[in-house]
Amino acid sequence: MRAIRVTRLDGPDSVELAEVDEPTGDGVVVEVHAAGAAFPDALLTRGLYQYRPNPPFVLGAEIAGVVRSAPEGAHVRSGDRVVGLTMLTGGMAEVAVLQPDRVFKLPDNVSFEAGAGLLFNDLTVYFALTVRGRLQQGETVLVHGAAGGIGTSALRLAPVLGASRTIAVVSTEEKAEIATSAGATDVVLAEGFKDAVKELTDGRGVDIVVDPVGGDRFTDSLRSLVAGGRLLVIGFTGGEIPTVKVNRLLLNNIDVVGVGWGAWAGTHPGALNEQWAAVEELLSSGRLAPPDPDVYPLDEAAAAVASMENRTAKGKVVLRVR
Ligand SMILES: NC(=O)c1ccc[n+]([C@@H]2O[C@H](COP(=O)([O-])OP(=O)(O)OC[C@H]3O[C@@H](n4cnc5c(N)ncnc54)[C@H](OP(=O)(O)O)[C@@H]3O)[C@@H](O)[C@H]2O)c1
Repeated sequence: MRAIRVTRLDGPDSVELAEVDEPTGDGVVVEVHAAGAAFPDALLTRGLYQYRPNPPFVLGAEIAGVVRSAPEGAHVRSGDRVVGLTMLTGGMAEVAVLQPDRVFKLPDNVSFEAGAGLLFNDLTVYFALTVRGRLQQGETVLVHGAAGGIGTSALRLAPVLGASRTIAVVSTEEKAEIATSAGATDVVLAEGFKDAVKELTDGRGVDIVVDPVGGDRFTDSLRSLVAGGRLLVIGFTGGEIPTVKVNRLLLNNIDVVGVGWGAWAGTHPGALNEQWAAVEELLSSGRLAPPDPDVYPLDEAAAAVASMENRTAKGKVVLRVR
């Protein structure tokens, strides 16, 4: 089969389209139609992610496709349209074998390409906003990295989960358009975002900050929160891991909340199923629009993965596999 393989840890440019043997082992065998690309894929190509597989390995954490075969007793069967999580490699290939509890039926109204861009971000953001962020009806949510995978997911999900306003933070005007298409109520540039947010909210601030970026904007994010506000720590694409002066938390009754979706899933059996049941219902009822990914052909996987690293990714990035 064709697959996107990492043979040396030299970054996205060194990934290659290769002919490899189909995977073996127990599980649900899926004929992959599309595979998601995410920021961790770029880190994996340099051996910089917390999970460090030895090359050669096939990239790809999330897929959409059709079940070829499933073990006895599995909740899916041959011919079902599904999405699935590999946790965390093996997805960018024509065939993947997944654990049954990481495979979910894809609603008919969602394409394979949109489906391949769903699970990783939407389940993380659903968990972040509901369990960790305690989002309430009518609250305002500020979203950093708003034109990225997590960012566009937050812009789609926050209103459906009760937010009355989303403010997107982006680095360029082109990304402002992507954030607007994903549903942002307002868009501000990263440079000077604190003052822009203050003006937009008449000095009040926001209830929740969704932060997949970290870096040097962290303190201004804390300053942008209302009393009782929550900052959700999701990632550090900005590079630097921020530190918190905890007096800021005390003075304004602010929470800085960690969001470790994978760690939560690992310690809470059934959590992925619950998250998917909620997101699937929103999708199939039409209340939540599927993602509108930037689709690359499989032989351009290197460029797709590089777009995370060089900051040019436009929304969620997906590879068309077949
Ligand atoms: N905690 C969890 O459970 C969990 C789950 C999934 C993903 N994540 C993490 O969430 C983060 C975002 O993932 P993603 O897939 O959404 O990434 P993405 O699509 O590449 O988006 C990341 C955004 O970060 C911003 N950014 C700021 N500085 C950057 C820099 N120096 N290099 C690259 N991007 C920069 C970019 O927006 P601007 O250019 O507009 O600033 C970009 O749109 C990653 O760190 C990932 O590991 C965490």
